[in-house]
Amino acid sequence: MREIETSIMRVDATKPDTGRISEAANFIRRGGVVVFPTDTVYGIGANAFDDAACRRIFEIKGRPADNPLIVHVHSVEQASELAHIDGKYLKKIRRIWPSPITFIAKAKAKFPASVTAGLGTVAIRMPAHPVALALIKSAGVPIAAPSANPSQKPTATTGLQSIRYFDGKADCIIDSGSSFFGIESTIIDLRTFTVLRPGPFTPEEIEKAFSIKPRVGRVASGTASARGAVISPGTKYRHYAPETPMFIFEGEERQLKNIVEGINAAFAIIGSSELCSRSERLGYSTISLGSRKDIYGIAKNLYSAIILLDSLKVKFGIVEAFDESGIGLAIMNRLRKASSNKSFSTKKGLLKLLSEQSL
Ligand code: TXA
Ligand code: MG
Repeated sequence: MREIETSIMRVDATKPDTGRISEAANFIRRGGVVVFPTDTVYGIGANAFDDAACRRIFEIKGRPADNPLIVHVHSVEQASELAHIDGKYLKKIRRIWPSPITFIAKAKAKFPASVTAGLGTVAIRMPAHPVALALIKSAGVPIAAPSANPSQKPTATTGLQSIRYFDGKADCIIDSGSSFFGIESTIIDLRTFTVLRPGPFTPEEIEKAFSIKPRVGRVASGTASARGAVISPGTKYRHYAPETPMFIFEGEERQLKNIVEGINAAFAIIGSSELCSRSERLGYSTISLGSRKDIYGIAKNLYSAIILLDSLKVKFGIVEAFDESGIGLAIMNRLRKASSNKSFSTKKGLLKLLSEQSL
């Protein structure tokens, strides 16, 4: 792909500079591609009604054409112009937006096929990030944006990571430091009230906000992979993966020392600071996600840790399994995808994984 000159701008996350925002919005209006921060992760966006601009996002990311985009709006009113959202849901959505939750509903507006993959539905969300909201408002059009990562790679959660991925490819990159949550939004299909992708807005919180218990399928937890015709096309692709093979440790923590004893291939342990400090004392390389008492902190550090694994030049990574309640469900969903669902709890299990990978 031909390299272009990218306009990179620093914008304060809480008090966005209006001049810079309108400069970035100009790129959107003129059919450009802009990388911008949201509450969850960075997004790579374009005017949702501009087919050519949206197709450029696919080209830059190397994204399969059958994987539709999320349309970002700045208000509930804008969302209801774009999608048929049932009045009974609209009232509740007004109460919880902006927040890290995306709704799938029948499309009302005529979106290009690149945005909806011709599904007849559209995914809509209002991000809780001052920069994203200012950008959408200033652009005057909804912004279609997938997560800011080359297809299959871990998503950028910082401006710096976005620059590493997209300098020379996107027209503009807004650097506002770290995203707030570090994990992509929860996606719920309003037609069946099913969580298609778990995220920071937890099933427990959805039930509280809507007084309806959402369905959560095995695909959402990451234990089953979707194939062929699926409701959310993104769920069938490998995702978030480092180059280095990564395995989830689901066994007992005090057994880990015995399990890895005598393994010749170099490895690193990704986990809570509690597990990491114990592992460091045993002489192992570690990447800490922060204390397990702060599960939101673990989510926030997850993708940077996975990206870091590749720079350590080890043969494989071992990642700690977390409890699947609350945002833990989203963490485990991403870890299962990043590890191609490979886990172990015993020495025999680990040896089997290593021999499969010829390690
Ligand atoms: O937090 C987020 O949601 C971030 C930020 C940038 O907003 N965006 C994001 O987009 O994660 P992406 O493209 O990486 O993931 C969107 C997911 C994909 O799995 C896609 O298949 C699904 O949403 N999706 C989009 N439109 C859909 C539709 N009409 N029906 C079902 N699934 C849809
Ligand atoms: Mg993505």
